[in-house]
Amino acid sequence: MTAELEQFAEVAPGLRSSLPEAERAAGYDRLALGYDLLVGNPLYNRLVWGCPKSAYRGAAGGLLADVPAGELIDFGCGSLVFTAASYRGCEDRLVLFDRSLGMLRRGRERLPRGRFLQGDAFAAPFDDGTFAGAMGWGMLHVFGTGSGYLAALHRLVRHGAPVAIGTLVLTDRAIGNRMLAMLHARGEAAAPEGRDSVERAFATLFAIQHARLAGNMLFLQGRKRG
Ligand SMILES: C[S@@+](CC[C@H](N)C(=O)[O-])C[C@H]1O[C@@H](n2cnc3c(N)ncnc32)[C@H](O)[C@@H]1O
Repeated sequence: MTAELEQFAEVAPGLRSSLPEAERAAGYDRLALGYDLLVGNPLYNRLVWGCPKSAYRGAAGGLLADVPAGELIDFGCGSLVFTAASYRGCEDRLVLFDRSLGMLRRGRERLPRGRFLQGDAFAAPFDDGTFAGAMGWGMLHVFGTGSGYLAALHRLVRHGAPVAIGTLVLTDRAIGNRMLAMLHARGEAAAPEGRDSVERAFATLFAIQHARLAGNMLFLQGRKRG
């Protein structure tokens, strides 16, 4: 089974949308430039979240290596500010999925041969088990473990397929914890959760293979159960 992106409307070369025209605007469209300048800044990441860009490269590279064949999805790929380098050379077997065309357009500049699709993670236009692997960086803390985001990832991949996430959690780092609380207060993140609660939620759907905390960013990789 492969993701047939050609069925969706082409918005720009290499960029398609699964949403009706009237629903294509997204909150992140106006944040895209600021996201890249601030969140994509290595210094900001080190100081505020204690997470170097190399941690994303390690996690994304680990998942790609674990899925040597078959199609993968980045489920909320954003502007690829952390991941474009890891994805170069894998464009043919990678679907880059996000709700915001503004973020996707920036992603396309970083990875011109990428296959980008706009859509809603909670109504993703793919059959069950379409993908041989899936990943979502910086997504779960936006929605929370009770949101159905992990269940959506679980639905998209085949039995036993690897799935990896990176998500901000509460740790002993006061600055990161305060920032996470502030993002929640501004409606930009779900209620902050600790590592244990995130790992428990992940482990109900995926058998955990690797877990690594880089500052406030928890990276998990597991295989689909059930
Ligand atoms: C914190 S950013 C993470 C982006 C990217 N993965 C990264 O690590 O830089 C959250 C992303 O979620 C996307 N998003 C928000 N709601 C979504 C939804 N319902 N479906 C798919 N993507 C969504 C936003 O457009 C944004 O790109």
